[in-house]
Amino acid sequence: MEFFLLFEGLVDASNSGSLTLETMQNVALETMSDGLVTIRAPVPSDIPLIIAARDDEHRRWLGPGSNHPGPSTCVVVEGETVGWVDYDHDREHDWLNGDEVNLGYFIFPGHRGKGFAARAVELLLAHLAAATPYRTASALIDSQNVRSLAVARRCGFELVGKLEGGKLYFRRYLSWGSADLLQSDAAAKQRRTKKTRG
Ligand SMILES: CC(C)(COP(=O)(O)OP(=O)(O)OC[C@H]1O[C@@H](n2cnc3c(N)ncnc32)[C@H](O)[C@@H]1OP(=O)(O)O)[C@@H](O)C(=O)NCCC(=O)NCCS
Repeated sequence: MEFFLLFEGLVDASNSGSLTLETMQNVALETMSDGLVTIRAPVPSDIPLIIAARDDEHRRWLGPGSNHPGPSTCVVVEGETVGWVDYDHDREHDWLNGDEVNLGYFIFPGHRGKGFAARAVELLLAHLAAATPYRTASALIDSQNVRSLAVARRCGFELVGKLEGGKLYFRRYLSWGSADLLQSDAAAKQRRTKKTRG
């Protein structure tokens, strides 16, 4: 029953507009949590934290980073911003199919190795499945980036092959199955509404 109500909440969220792949912009994200890890839209106070947290790992795998970072979501644990997960459908990413987005993620150095990245990616996939027309998520990962490879494996991405430049190309199809982790504000509202009605 619980799952059914969560699912209903997500359906409401997905029906809130008439998005198609042609009209798609990044959809405003409602706060989503799995009980430990929360993802939410960035707020201005996240920006200096994101910039200050960049370390050698960031520079090695993600480059120097922008002075105006604007990830789709920030990752929050116990009220503290601990990183970001992002997706895009940039035209310059010519390997992306029409219904496909490219994922990126960064967990601040002091918070790594606790499973936060994988949990945050699962939440983002649930958002994409429920509230956007995208149906495929992909990640390009350097074969030496063992932590990121482990995140992709843990989240059920499959290796498709190697792209020019040598990066490994992973893909995961999105389905409603991603929704079972989700405790969204919409779902909570839905549950409250049901209780009132009942
Ligand atoms: C990649 C990154 C986001 C992973 O974040 P994280 O929250 O530490 O990830 P997790 O805690 O879920 O751990 C991921 C895996 O790495 C493993 N791991 C943790 N510390 C490790 C270490 N020092 N060496 C090797 N593996 C390690 C974990 O055991 C886990 O593997 P498992 O799922 O098999 O148990 C983080 O390391 C990071 O921000 N790196 C720099 C940016 C980056 O590389 N982004 C990805 C670009 S493609």
